[in-house]
Amino acid sequence: MNTRIRLSRSLLGEEELESVRTVLDSGYLTMGPRVTAFEAVIAQRVGTRYAVATSSATTALHLAMVALDIGPGDEVILPSFTFPATGHVVIQQGAVPVLADIDPCTLNLDAADLARKFTQRTRAVIAVHLFGNPADMEPILALTRPRGIPVVEDAACALGAHYQGVPCGSLGVLGCFSFHPRKIITTGEGGMITTNDPLLAERIQRLRQHGGDRVDGRFQFVEPGFNYRLSDIHAAIGIAQMQRLDAILEARTRFARSLSEGLSAVPGVQLPVVTPHGFHTFQTYCVILDAGISRDQVISAMNHANIETTIGTYALHGLGYMQARYGYQETDLPVSAMAGRQGLSLPIYPGLDEHDAARIVAALAEAVRGTT
Ligand SMILES: Cc1ncc(COP(=O)(O)O)c(C=O)c1O
Repeated sequence: MNTRIRLSRSLLGEEELESVRTVLDSGYLTMGPRVTAFEAVIAQRVGTRYAVATSSATTALHLAMVALDIGPGDEVILPSFTFPATGHVVIQQGAVPVLADIDPCTLNLDAADLARKFTQRTRAVIAVHLFGNPADMEPILALTRPRGIPVVEDAACALGAHYQGVPCGSLGVLGCFSFHPRKIITTGEGGMITTNDPLLAERIQRLRQHGGDRVDGRFQFVEPGFNYRLSDIHAAIGIAQMQRLDAILEARTRFARSLSEGLSAVPGVQLPVVTPHGFHTFQTYCVILDAGISRDQVISAMNHANIETTIGTYALHGLGYMQARYGYQETDLPVSAMAGRQGLSLPIYPGLDEHDAARIVAALAEAVRGTT
């Protein structure tokens, strides 16, 4: 029997253990010098003046909304095809998530549909670099800049990605990263906000820390905030992980190439697209199955072949509570609906080799044949 190929696996070793040991030995476990050092490494890599660590990308995105003063009566435009957290943070602020459709090739925000979604109440746009593939930022910024609308990048999957040579996370007003174990690097749970704006950075630092700040030399509560801090234990893992970033990216892109080469001969499977202007991290390798193919049956057949797969991500306008609250219907955003139904994530992580790619390709070809 073949060994099981899991969907995802983090690359961790002695360096992470040693880094955490240093924190435990120090006796200082909450947010401290390791968080500051981790922030500096991320800011340098993303090329922003500031990086502010948070407990997750969800809390990073939430702080982005709060720091931009998004509130009741406001609208925030985002792609429908994304992880639900991208939309939840808008709802948590009492604002309306206005869902736009995606481009059928890149699966990222479709600028033409974005253009149709602006109203007098639009206060921000969240551009998602889905699966680590940079969103086409030029047309997006061409629409938002003249209107004075800030763009928040959901770069949860996109550490190391770049667009026209510019790192994702430095293209908008704020960038939000995730360090969940299925992401490019991990801290267990964790996130980061990147920005060049000193006022936003200062406010986000305060908001993640209960709204407290040093004023006249002593700690005072300035506004109601949150505890969205990262701990030094998590940051220690992150610092060690950053040493591996380039090797991780190299391994992911190499494995993605092997999958694409093999799968290009398999009918009924649309492959992920790498655009000429973008560097794709391949945090997820997501294919789109043709309409006649049952994704559930493919997942089950792959499982039978001892290969873990899962859906791509969600079409938010198809979720019951989004339909009940905002009146969305399944047919509103057809490309997102199709991707939500037919997207399939295949295993990808450093450590998988040519032999694993061949096994995945052969199993998918057979699964697709058996379900059409
Ligand atoms: C596009 C996107 N945004 C946000 C998140 C939330 O990240 P976290 O788990 O760090 O809160 C995810 C996680 O899967 C994601 O894929």
